[in-house]
Formats: sequence, C-alpha cells, structure tokens
Amino acid sequence: RTLDWSATTVEKQGFRHFMLKEIYEQPAVVRTCLATYLNEQWRAADHPSHSPVFLGLDPQLTKNLQHIQILACGTSWHAGLVGKYLLEQLAGIPTTVHYASEFRYAAPPLTPHTLTIGVTQSGETADTLAALEMEKQRRLTLEDDYKPLILGITNRPESTLATMVNEIINTHAGIEIGVAATKTFVAQVLAFYFLALDIAFQRHSLSLEAIEHIMVGLRQLPAQIETILEQQGSAIEALAHEFAETQDFIFLGRGINFPIALEGALKLKEISYIHAEGYPAGEMKHGPIALLDAKVPVVAIAMPGSVHDKVISNAQEAKARDARLIGVTPMDDNQARSVFDDLLLVPHVEEMLSPIVAVIPLQLLAYHIAARRGLDVDQPRNLAKSVTVE
Ligand code: G6P
Repeated sequence: RTLDWSATTVEKQGFRHFMLKEIYEQPAVVRTCLATYLNEQWRAADHPSHSPVFLGLDPQLTKNLQHIQILACGTSWHAGLVGKYLLEQLAGIPTTVHYASEFRYAAPPLTPHTLTIGVTQSGETADTLAALEMEKQRRLTLEDDYKPLILGITNRPESTLATMVNEIINTHAGIEIGVAATKTFVAQVLAFYFLALDIAFQRHSLSLEAIEHIMVGLRQLPAQIETILEQQGSAIEALAHEFAETQDFIFLGRGINFPIALEGALKLKEISYIHAEGYPAGEMKHGPIALLDAKVPVVAIAMPGSVHDKVISNAQEAKARDARLIGVTPMDDNQARSVFDDLLLVPHVEEMLSPIVAVIPLQLLAYHIAARRGLDVDQPRNLAKSVTVE
C-alpha cells in the first residue's frame, strides 16, 4: 500500500483541513502564551511589587488611562468585544470597541489619556491600519494629555501594523492557514486577559488574591480545551451531520459570552454559507424571536455565572416556539441538561474565563457542518485571509 505523502497532507498532519488542525492546536497555543506572558513564580502572598504579567510595555502607555478604544475587523473585532469586558471589569477602564471601517469615517470626539488598541491577526488589514493611522495623525499635534498611545495585538509582529504603533503584543499562535480564524482568536482573547491583569495590578483595581485566582484559572485552560477536543469531538461531528441541510441558525449569549455568540455565528456563515445570527440573549424578544420555528436551531451559551439563569429562561422562550435548542454548557449543569435538546459540553469554569472554553465547540460545530456539506473549508468562497484593500 502506498501512502499519499503530498506536501499538504504532511503539513496538515493527518487532519482533513488546516482549520481542523488549527482548532486542535489551541491547547498548545494557550500553553505557549501562558508560558510567554505569565510569571510562574508570582504569588499574592509574597506581596509582589512587580506585575504578574511580562508584556514589556512602556509604563507610559497604560499610566493614567481614562479610556481605551479598540479598533478591529471581523473575528478580531469579536476578540475586542471580549477585551472590553475584561478591561472594564478587571482593570476598571471605560472601553469602546469600533469597527475600523466605521471609525475611519466617523471618528468619535477626542478623549484625553486614551489608549488605542488595534487588533489584527495579519497586521495587514487595510481598514484597521487606516483607522489607526488616522487616530495617530489627529493626535500628533495635540498637547500631552491627548498624545497618541497606540498598541497593536497581532500574530505577525513583522507586519505593517508593527511599524505604526508604539508597542505590540505578539499572540504567538503560529501561522494560521484556514481563512476562518480559530487559534488566533483564542490567542487575541488571551492577550486581553494579560493586558487587563497588568493594568489591574498597576492600578490596584483588583486585589492580589483576585489576580492570582484568575491566573490559576488561566493555567487550567489548556487541559480544559484538550478535554473538549478529546471528549466532544466525535459527538459534535455526529450532531453537525444533522444540520447539513439547515438554512438558518441563531446563536445567543450574554455578558462576556455575547461576543462568543457573534463569533459562533460568524464561523458558521464563513465556512458553511448557512445564514446565522448572533444575538445578546435578552434582545431576542425584540425581533429575532419572530424568525423562530422548528426549522431554526438555537445555540445558547449557558455558562455558570451572573447571567446563567437569564440565558436559560431566554432559551426556554425559544423552545416555546418549537426551536431545537443546543446548549453550550458545563458537564455538571443539570438544569441546562433538562432544557436543551442537544448539548455541547465543556468543563465547568468561572464566568470570567468562560469565553475561551465556550468558543471551542462552536468552532467544531461550524467546521463539521461545512465539512459535511463538502465545502472548501480552508478557502471559503468570496473571502480572503487578509483584506489589504478597502
Ligand atoms: C478577513 C478574514 C477574517 C478576519 C478579518 C480581520 O475578513 O477572513 O477571518 O477576522 O479579515 O483580519 P485581521 O488579520 O485584521 O485580524
């Protein structure tokens, strides 16, 4: 028997598509990011005077901040939405998130002591670079409080982005080939945890114990992602096959997992060409509920925490309209089990850390639906990995 050792087969390391390989690389990516940026020795009980995070940023960049604005496109914009939640809840800094393509043509009034963060996996997205450049130029001539403070979060530290910003956080995810971003999204979200913890430490917006607690949780993520990939991979594939002919999907989430509902819907749209909408679960009654019937499955992210019961009751409203309900929920959540028709099971994690585990089954669901439909998962029609024109 001869084996097919073509170059791509070897590069895909036995996976059918790059996207699937990249989904399975996520535990390793998270391990790399944690090893690069988190101080292993840092303990709250030692009353450390240095930050738990090694970002190596110029302290001027984060000192006296009153406002953070995040500019991005696509999946990077979703990472920015999770980032907003972390920067506000952990670091206590009001944060706004903008589509770069909108910001360019309607920039908000200037605010003092403002850090602008450009999030771009490729570091080459034309709209993101143009929005950052515009922000830089309009601040250059202003007095000190308004001077440009610009940070880039990218997977390509050699990119054009790096030449335009004061500092870079490198997401260290390795090259991503699949057009639909997976491992780079998780690495961008991690970068926001590191930045939020660093600022929280400097501004004393969290106790040292609270910081250590989050660090302990972050360190468990690689094994938790592995558990999902190992234990849920085939179940999600089997479930996905039931949706190969489905035409519409709704994804619901709240709080820190609302951006994950958007990202789950975007993954499905990008590679399966199925119409999908992500919505904050509480907004469903203001419109999208009119779409629901037995033909529209609803995926609800019901993770433990402040909005768990609210999401469950929003899901029940969908069930009352005959929607098939799929829940992203922890293995030990008996209440959720009794509500959902199908489960995408994940480990039990705290609310603050839940986006990173919740997104994994949604990536797998989108992948397996698209693969079942026989589509070109790695190079979907009409899409480019990096959009370098306006
Ligand atoms: C393209 C890609 C998306 C990506 C977006 C932003 O549309 O297909 O996957 O999220 O660009 O890319 P960036 O490199 O700026 O993160």
